[in-house]
Amino acid sequence: MLGVFDSGSGGLTVAQTLSKAFPHVSMMYLGDHARSPYGDRPVNEIEQYTKECVDWLFAQGCDQVLLACNTASAVALDYLDDDRVIGIIEPTRDWLSTRDKEDIGLLATTATVTSGVYSDVVAYQHSCPAWTLFIEKGNPKSEGAKEVVTRDVNTLIEGRELNTVVLACTHYPYFHDLLAEILPSDVTVVDQGDMVANWLKDHNRPAQTDGDSALQFFTTDDPIEVSRRAADFFGSPVTFQKATI
Ligand code: DGL
Repeated sequence: MLGVFDSGSGGLTVAQTLSKAFPHVSMMYLGDHARSPYGDRPVNEIEQYTKECVDWLFAQGCDQVLLACNTASAVALDYLDDDRVIGIIEPTRDWLSTRDKEDIGLLATTATVTSGVYSDVVAYQHSCPAWTLFIEKGNPKSEGAKEVVTRDVNTLIEGRELNTVVLACTHYPYFHDLLAEILPSDVTVVDQGDMVANWLKDHNRPAQTDGDSALQFFTTDDPIEVSRRAADFFGSPVTFQKATI
């Protein structure tokens, strides 16, 4: 069974793609909604929280865990030091490194940008600390959210000849429609679902197919409230259960 971890609901954008790409692999998703967002937390907290969540997934019987969270991957993957844990940075870097870095702008959390994990493969990066907060704890459909997203996107693109914007935070695909409105029509927005699915296939992971396609969803927060908000990420209703960590 493949464990899929994110600080909150963002990793559902990846889990959704994986469930189609690997229909015979069962998956257990864990979102640490109670402590989300991670993006502006200090390194030691991100390391500790990620470890607790990954350990919990292994304790439930997962044999591999994908960190479907750039922040956790950028900050905690080395700290975990476990071959069974796959980060989302490497698939993304592999995708970026086959393109001209001057054409690409990247949006991510403060922790991801500060870690420098993408610095040599993209020329332009911008951190968007408020986006995940709006998505997880506020109203992402509000005028306030729209203003903040517009301002951040303009900061990234102004005065630059970009043809691609990469969403290197798994929460950000929530704003796909809004981004399409804001960005010039010749700029393509790319998220990480397909990058990760293709990379896993190329690297023969998940290691085993268990013939099952069970998908289970767990959260460290209130499962009813999380389920209510999560459908927008997964594209269909999702029922979360409580994980006590
Ligand atoms: N979805 C996460 C990422 O890809 C983390 C967002 C957050 O918790 O700040 O970075």
